[in-house]
Amino acid sequence: MSIQTPKIDKKVSLSTIAKMKGVEPITMVTAYDALFARLFDGEVEMILVGDSLNMSFMGRADTLSATMDQMIYHTQAVCNGAKSSLVVVDMPFGSCATPEQALANATRIYQQTDAQAVKIEGGKEREHIVRMLTQNSIAVLGHIGLMPQFVRSEGGYKVRGKDEADIERLVEDAKALEKAGAFALVVEGVKSKAAQAVTHAVSIPTIGIGAGNSTDGQVLVWSDMFGFFEAFKPKFVKQYFQGAQYIREGLQAYRNEVKSRVFPDELHNY
Ligand code: KIV
Repeated sequence: MSIQTPKIDKKVSLSTIAKMKGVEPITMVTAYDALFARLFDGEVEMILVGDSLNMSFMGRADTLSATMDQMIYHTQAVCNGAKSSLVVVDMPFGSCATPEQALANATRIYQQTDAQAVKIEGGKEREHIVRMLTQNSIAVLGHIGLMPQFVRSEGGYKVRGKDEADIERLVEDAKALEKAGAFALVVEGVKSKAAQAVTHAVSIPTIGIGAGNSTDGQVLVWSDMFGFFEAFKPKFVKQYFQGAQYIREGLQAYRNEVKSRVFPDELHNY
């Protein structure tokens, strides 16, 4: 049985997200342009302008070469389409190595876009950076567990929380980021037991991706969940339809009709 969730018509605020912990699962998807942001707007509480755009839309092998200019351009587009969902933007790799650099870059995001928050990958080693932003009125979504910006230094995408020691490390990361003022945490690529421990350890919401069903919300990359990104499919991704296949079928139909002079017909003519 499919449940019809009503569309959100009021702007989602940070306090709405905070209040949802333990009450109602939070939904989040990525978007990279106004067209899709408009489609997703109000259907989910949060829209993430993820640096995953560097892979799915720029065609690069990882997220590391995404730039501040790129993130700002896409965030401006998303904000043109998203009026109700809360918009969060990824701080790209190398944009927050020091608290000062992070503040300068996050300030640029607040000044040049309408995003309500930034997302920073990193655990307790980034606590001072998150604190610098939150103390300067910039809302931060933390991101712990498997962190795509660490793919080269870690030597691959590695699932976290496989043993008690690592679960403890993740819990420490989560607590440190909460203490630094993060309003919520993305918990990516961790065993369900670890995600559950993190979710219980903090009073801010956790948004899982590849982290099982006990987090306070879920996030997926839209081009993965709708079957447009075909380079690879992580195990945790559920494809809600086969977008790439529909595009191919549509294009094939168009091509056939043009070649056979069926299109344009009388209905599609001046
Ligand atoms: O860049 C992104 O899309 C992300 C999500 C996978 C959480 O960080």
